[in-house]
Amino acid sequence: MTRILGIETSCDETAAAVISNEGGKAEILSNVVLSQIADHAAFGGVVPEIAARAHVEALDGVIAAALDSADLSLGEIDAIAATAGPGLIGGLIVGLTTAKAIAAALGKPLIPVNHLEGHALTARLTDGIQFPYLLLLVSGGHTQIVHVEGVGRYQRWASTIDDALGEAFDKTAKLLGLPYPGGPSVEKAATGGDPKRFAFPRPLKGEARPDFSFSGLKTAVRREASELAPLGEDDIADICASFQQAVTETLTDRVARSLARFNETHCAIETPTLVVAGGVAANQAIRTALDALCETTGFRLVAPPIRLCGDNAAMIAWAGLERLEAGLDPDNALGFAPRPRWPLDEASAPLFGAGKRGAKA
Ligand code: KG4
Ligand code: ZN
Repeated sequence: MTRILGIETSCDETAAAVISNEGGKAEILSNVVLSQIADHAAFGGVVPEIAARAHVEALDGVIAAALDSADLSLGEIDAIAATAGPGLIGGLIVGLTTAKAIAAALGKPLIPVNHLEGHALTARLTDGIQFPYLLLLVSGGHTQIVHVEGVGRYQRWASTIDDALGEAFDKTAKLLGLPYPGGPSVEKAATGGDPKRFAFPRPLKGEARPDFSFSGLKTAVRREASELAPLGEDDIADICASFQQAVTETLTDRVARSLARFNETHCAIETPTLVVAGGVAANQAIRTALDALCETTGFRLVAPPIRLCGDNAAMIAWAGLERLEAGLDPDNALGFAPRPRWPLDEASAPLFGAGKRGAKA
């Protein structure tokens, strides 16, 4: 039996979790996520300095709570996995240094984990899916499609050329005066709104390249909102519904390109899998649209439960376990420096402006 403590502090969640693995059967023993949303709400976005301080104050307690709810003491942990990037440097330093201290004190291995790899491998923990598969990662800092071939073997097939999708939701909410974080607010406001009232653009729709773009959509929303101002509740509902409609249409059009490429690459796989992860995967309209797309293209859609879609430490512990078992833990982990920028696919050149907000995932 292997028990791994995971630590995640790359953005605005202080998280710790314990997972166990016995004879290939993995189990989440605890998964504690302390959100800093209230600390940042007044600023309409994550303030790096506030985030770093909040991690310092909360992390020890969050780790203690994770051990407590797993009913384990620190001495019963076999390895420690911590997010080492990408993300806000202050938070990464807090989490990784804490993990190093625990690993050094216990004399147990430390596995520095790429946060994106945590998102990429979660569906193997929740649904036991096999390699290879396609990952659609949609969060506040990243929007990309990754071809997942194995542990540590990732190819980015598509990415946003400007804003991340979650960022587009957050900015839309902000300019409509809806509360932070914007995604859930926009989704809620869209209920009952008219998705056809505004013909917002569907950026890159129909183009051969597989990438995403959302900044033009956000600009169109701003223009419409300022022309209509002052906005009534119905206007806000209609803008949100029309925005979401544009998002789902352009998203599914873009994703379809990579599904086709996956089928060409792996023609022997009978039921290929598309995994959707990241905070935006909580959006019901997006899930429904992806469901329909998978239905028509013969893909199986796997969406981890919402508490494992957004940032959490169970996914970091799991990625650490996968790395440990694949023999991919580094020799000098205690000397591993945090990496604010750390693409999953180091071979792919970064796209201009691709989802760079706070470098979070
Ligand atoms: O993965 P995540 O928890 O954190 C990182 O970005 O790393 O994702 C947060 C993002 C935010 O931009 C938030 O507005 C968006 O996910 N989000 C949503 C929804 N819930 C969260 N976007 C659209 N619809 C939602 N229901
Ligand atoms: Zn994330």
